[in-house]
Amino acid sequence: MHHTQIRLKTAIQFSHGNVCMVVISPICMVKSSCQLRYSYLYADNFIRINIAMTLYETLANELKAQIERGVFEVGNKLPSVRQLSTEHKVSIATVQEAYRVLEAQQLVEAKPKSGYFVARSILIDNTPSMTKPPQRPMDVSQWEGVLDTLLNTFNKDHDAKTLCQFQHAMPNMTAKTLKPLIKRLHELTKHRALDGMIYGDVKGDETLRKQLSRLAAASGCVLQSDEFIVTSGCQEALSVCLRAVASAGDVIAVESPGFYGAMQAIKGAELKALEIPTDSETGLSLKALKLALDQWPIKAILVAPTVNNPQGFVMPEAKKKALYELAREYDVAIIEDDIYGDIAYAYPRPKTIKSFDKDGRVLLCSSFSKTLAPGFRVGWIAPGSYRNKVLHVKYVSSSMCPTLPQLAIASFIEQGGYDKHIRAMRHHYLSARDALRSDIKRYFPADTCISYPQGGYVLWVELNSRYDSVKLADEAKQKGIYVAPGQLFSATGKYRHCLRFNFIDSTQAARTEAIQRLGEMLVAQEA
Ligand SMILES: Cc1ncc(COP(=O)(O)O)c(C=O)c1O
Repeated sequence: MHHTQIRLKTAIQFSHGNVCMVVISPICMVKSSCQLRYSYLYADNFIRINIAMTLYETLANELKAQIERGVFEVGNKLPSVRQLSTEHKVSIATVQEAYRVLEAQQLVEAKPKSGYFVARSILIDNTPSMTKPPQRPMDVSQWEGVLDTLLNTFNKDHDAKTLCQFQHAMPNMTAKTLKPLIKRLHELTKHRALDGMIYGDVKGDETLRKQLSRLAAASGCVLQSDEFIVTSGCQEALSVCLRAVASAGDVIAVESPGFYGAMQAIKGAELKALEIPTDSETGLSLKALKLALDQWPIKAILVAPTVNNPQGFVMPEAKKKALYELAREYDVAIIEDDIYGDIAYAYPRPKTIKSFDKDGRVLLCSSFSKTLAPGFRVGWIAPGSYRNKVLHVKYVSSSMCPTLPQLAIASFIEQGGYDKHIRAMRHHYLSARDALRSDIKRYFPADTCISYPQGGYVLWVELNSRYDSVKLADEAKQKGIYVAPGQLFSATGKYRHCLRFNFIDSTQAARTEAIQRLGEMLVAQEA
């Protein structure tokens, strides 16, 4: 600050992070230096002098202050990128970066083709509270319930009585933007059938792995094609990673609630799950995780931090970094499930924990099941330093994956079809989220809490504990409405008063009708 002159009548200095706040008289003079990149009048007699912040951080802070002071309210549209760029004489990229910072803090959200809005997540009204799972490692139960859910999948299109399938998390597969992929698959079947019949590379086809490397860059990762291993969906990816990092009896820390398939993979590998309290807006509690790491010999942390299933949250970027640092401190692996990451509503999409990985302890898992279609069974792992072990377990698990779907998807990505499809789907899913949330608010009991997903197409509903979601799911099934009871998402059958809904199956009208009927069933439960 030595090149800066400030003439002050009264001068008291506060220090807060790298922002220095000086109380001054209205008459002041500030000379810019190279260190002092930006300054602005904050209130009548306050000036904030930014010492080491970048332009985008400063701009993000200014917007944040305005949101906190209520200049922009929840749901308000924020100034456009172009407008801020002109007003603040900064580049478009600087404004975009500032908005990205605010998105990571969940203060703003991007709506495709509409701009940036103050996120509802800054309100703490009716979202589910921090969960309180059991405090010790447990064997995973719940297989029968999961099996029942899986079997219902196949009834879907054949059951004329079905009004609405809220139970499964399947993407929109009738979108026009998927057509080039189907066409490519037909062409490959016709002209390259032999490629589809011979043994392929155990790591997966090179053309696909090259495209995976390109996609990973969007989430902040620099990964070469050789750093990927293609799997049969994300379910196999999770299962292979668990087996590669842990042995029977070991403890795996998981979000609670968490994806039931991950819990079953833990069960299948004879591991124990330690459920960690999880916040519906920012994810797993790091404080609780640290306590657990102190107390139990945890081998790995399995998380879905970017568009979580079932709650839909995106863990803020700073928290992802802190989670990675905690894993380093205690020397445990992180298995990061990023299956919904590309359909976060924010653009550019949030960074993965993997993007902060300096020592290869993060095993990134994903698939095209939620972005394109689950039937292709194309998933992958970026296993970091566990590569050799993962490759062996993958070979033992299923040898290689079918080649033609990999080739078709690789060419779809290369031709730009994937990005186009994802852009269209983000928009589609976001409006469906808002519609389902308002139907639930309208027809469910007033004390119902609903998560506020930042991407994808599932949300989590927490009812008053007097309701029984298993009973509700059974009753609803008789009327052609399928819902996933909350207990599937716990290792130990907790969350019997919660439900997970997908919000894109069937038509809007059918969804509204089904929610209304479920609301009536809840009223009947009270009687
Ligand atoms: C969070 C999460 N991870 C993994 C999977 C399994 O994905 P796949 O169908 O690619 O095996 C799912 C599927 O529902 C999921 O929701």
